[in-house]
Amino acid sequence: MDKFLALSVLLLQFCFSSSLTIPAATNNILINHAISSSNYDHPRKHDLHRKIKTRRAKLTSFEGVTAEIENVEGTYLVNLVIGTPPVSFLASPTTVTDLIWTQCKPCKHCFNQSTPIYNRSKSSSFSKLPCSHELCKASYIHSCNSDCRYKQKYLGGSSEGVMGTETITFGSHSVPDIAFGCGNSNTFVVSHGSGVLGLGRGPQSLVSQLGIRRFSYCLPYYAESNGRLLLGSEVQHQQNSKTEIQSTPLVLNPSNSSFYYLTLHGITVGETKLQIPKGMFEVRKDGGGGLIINSGEMLTAMEQPAFGLLKDEFKSQLKLPFADKKSSLGYDACFSFEPKSNVEVPKLIYHFDRFADLVLPVENYVFTDSENGVMCLAILEGNEGVSTFGGIHQSNINMMFDLNKGELSFAPVHCKEL
Ligand SMILES: *[C@@H]1O[C@H](CO)[C@@H](O)[C@H](O)[C@H]1NC(C)=O
Ligand SMILES: *[C@@H]1O[C@H](CO)[C@@H](O)[C@H](O)[C@H]1NC(C)=O
Ligand SMILES: *[C@@H]1O[C@H](CO)[C@@H](O)[C@H](O)[C@H]1NC(C)=O
Repeated sequence: MDKFLALSVLLLQFCFSSSLTIPAATNNILINHAISSSNYDHPRKHDLHRKIKTRRAKLTSFEGVTAEIENVEGTYLVNLVIGTPPVSFLASPTTVTDLIWTQCKPCKHCFNQSTPIYNRSKSSSFSKLPCSHELCKASYIHSCNSDCRYKQKYLGGSSEGVMGTETITFGSHSVPDIAFGCGNSNTFVVSHGSGVLGLGRGPQSLVSQLGIRRFSYCLPYYAESNGRLLLGSEVQHQQNSKTEIQSTPLVLNPSNSSFYYLTLHGITVGETKLQIPKGMFEVRKDGGGGLIINSGEMLTAMEQPAFGLLKDEFKSQLKLPFADKKSSLGYDACFSFEPKSNVEVPKLIYHFDRFADLVLPVENYVFTDSENGVMCLAILEGNEGVSTFGGIHQSNINMMFDLNKGELSFAPVHCKEL
């Protein structure tokens, strides 16, 4: 190997006894859930924004909340509490949808959850959301007889039920009157959880409802439970001389206004900058395309032709054959190697706007199964019309969203120290 390449390579030392982890490929379904919701998210923006402002004013005394994030077999979950008396609400926190919902009795169709299912008749803090309320009308699919009924579609299924308001408790901090979906027909499954915590930019999201302009999260690795979600204007990066904080603009796409778009100028593998066509990750004039940041799924989904270029570049630098479909557990970029040997993995760098280069640690983009000699990139071939930047890439990086500055800043950190 030439010297140049050697420098650009990270040595991946496989530890044979330790937990190897290629998570099950159910992630494929979850990826879709992210995207398709946007297809149902066409609120009348101007109208909504005006009304939301008045709501915000009520919450000026709000200081901030914290919740732990755990990664349970590939699903990120925050451990919240809903209602009075309180019931556990294990919610998947996601930046690519807005609606907050939990499974709700009586169930027409509920998936298994490990904690008792919330029953609104048992909660003294539940109220129905009036049909005239802007957060009722913000659901792309809603109907109004006496109740505000919603349907939130994802490609992997849907959640359907009645919109209400509830007290949601984050640690010791209870927040009343959060609008949410009380879902009694849920074909979309949140594995190990009971619902979804929407953190998007649309009016129904927790971020919009609280009226906060800043939040941050740190996502844990597979099967770890030390992640953090922090919401509030006081949220800051840890300041110490060693942390390098970088920032890049958060772009708003008026056609899909729930998403946080990033401007990605390029990708480097090892020492090679990929020859990605100009504009590959830009939002097109028709509102499609672009790259959005996703805290709800582990994997990144990269549209073509970027995905193919990336995969081929890894193949040529690794000098390893592609793994066959069976051993690759459904992932799209996997390589075979001599079982129990070491592999040198090229660096992976994302070049975001304003010279924000995200140099990923190898565990943020590669899964390995050294017993069987298979390694896979944590990147799938996207085919939803938009690329998504997934959670594994963001592991152990504090991601801070500042909506006033229109900026995402990030800094490597150990989540458990936050
Ligand atoms: C929900 O709670 C009410 C009031 O306690 C109870 O009558 C009802 O049976 C419960 N529903 C279910 C499906 O458990
Ligand atoms: C749900 O839980 C029940 C009872 O524990 C079990 O019989 C059933 O197989 C589970 N269903 C699924 C889809 O896991
Ligand atoms: C974004 O908006 C455009 C136009 O409204 C639409 O064609 C596209 O499917 C939307 N969704 C995504 C994920 O880009």
